[in-house]
Amino acid sequence: MNSEELARRNKELTLSSWTAQSAWNPPTAVRAEGVYFYGADGERYLDWASQLINVNLGHGNKTVIKAIQEQAEKLCYVGPSIATEPRARLGELLKQVTPHNLSKTFFTTAGTDAIENAIKIARLYTGKRKIVTRYRSYHGATAAAMTAGGDPRRLANEPGIADIVRIHSADPLRSPIYKGRTRDEGDAIVADLLEQTINFEGPQYIAALLFEGYSGTSGIYQPGPVFWNRVQEICEKYDILLILDEIMSGFGRTGKWFGVNHYPNVKPDIMCLAKAITTGYIPLGAVVVTDTIANHFEDNVLWAGLTYSGHALACATGVATIEYMLEHDIVEKGAEMGKFLREQLEALKERHPAIAEIRGDGLHQIIDLGYPNGEPLSPFNSPLTEPMRKVAAVLKERRLVTWAKWNTIYCCPPLTISKEEILEGIAILDEAISKADPYIS
Ligand SMILES: Cc1ncc(COP(=O)(O)O)c(C=O)c1O
Repeated sequence: MNSEELARRNKELTLSSWTAQSAWNPPTAVRAEGVYFYGADGERYLDWASQLINVNLGHGNKTVIKAIQEQAEKLCYVGPSIATEPRARLGELLKQVTPHNLSKTFFTTAGTDAIENAIKIARLYTGKRKIVTRYRSYHGATAAAMTAGGDPRRLANEPGIADIVRIHSADPLRSPIYKGRTRDEGDAIVADLLEQTINFEGPQYIAALLFEGYSGTSGIYQPGPVFWNRVQEICEKYDILLILDEIMSGFGRTGKWFGVNHYPNVKPDIMCLAKAITTGYIPLGAVVVTDTIANHFEDNVLWAGLTYSGHALACATGVATIEYMLEHDIVEKGAEMGKFLREQLEALKERHPAIAEIRGDGLHQIIDLGYPNGEPLSPFNSPLTEPMRKVAAVLKERRLVTWAKWNTIYCCPPLTISKEEILEGIAILDEAISKADPYIS
């Protein structure tokens, strides 16, 4: 079957996410290797977003695939009340790689239900209801996770669940909070506003703060250590839990194992994981809690469960992924490639007046396109403007697959990418962004 026929059948028989169906014109994929995937007509795509920022080891990792095959031969699945080797080993590895005293894991099927269960656990443990989150954040697509998020996908789902309170995020480039201030001064005000919000809402009713460990799909708006150190102080002062969503930012994406590793003073009570935990090959999520929280559930019922919690095949995939990462220094190598990517992106910024800012860490970078007066090239939560459409058209034609969303382009390739492959992507971006430059006066 050729690409046209394959795309047509997918469109005719299946529904696509987050889009009016008539606007969905998908590329096809029949095989993939490293940073590339190939369509049914043999066309080659450069995967510049690791699919949904989850295929961190790249496509077709032979070690992980072999582990999947071997586990599938032995045991694919037993119910969550039965003990298995891959489940125990993955618990052990997560305890090893996560920071501070995160020590015990509840397994879910993906990111969104990791968030649902983290909220549940925080409420059960504290006996309190409110959860404080950020406007510029995404935590998943089911009811509680969607309400917890702040990006526009939430709006069609409202009113969602009760007792979610949102605060503003870091945005030194455009937020009025930062106008005329340094980044650190702005971050301090965001933290002050967080504390004020907590006091308005009543700290005695707040179970947890829920933040992405490193900002992701909302535009990589990451506050610095000034904000994060205050978050830790505030959690201790008011006896509020800190839930970190590392679903996108985990497993080496930002040049460290987890986004929070950039702020060593910050001690999450609960961490949510998914995506790259299996390098995307098999769905799996995880909620890792401290020993204090785990101990609470020694004598109190954990009112949570899923048919596929602790899925043996998924856990074995997680084990193979993390062991591979440890054995091959993938986090360190990804950090090196991240530095190289950043240098190349900064050089692009020198050449293109349409680039307002490059943000991110490691292989988690974003290009922000805008006008000299600070306006974005294409406004938030609106259809793409003409210059942005032209940029996106070149990316599509040159088969660089990523998110060109509003005024941003995500640059988040697999951690195994080489310098040559980065330069291939940069050349395509160079050509695409030159379409926007003439609109900048
Ligand atoms: C930070 C974050 N949290 C949660 C989710 C939801 O994860 P999933 O799509 O696996 O349910 C995502 C997905 O993109 C995410 O980026």
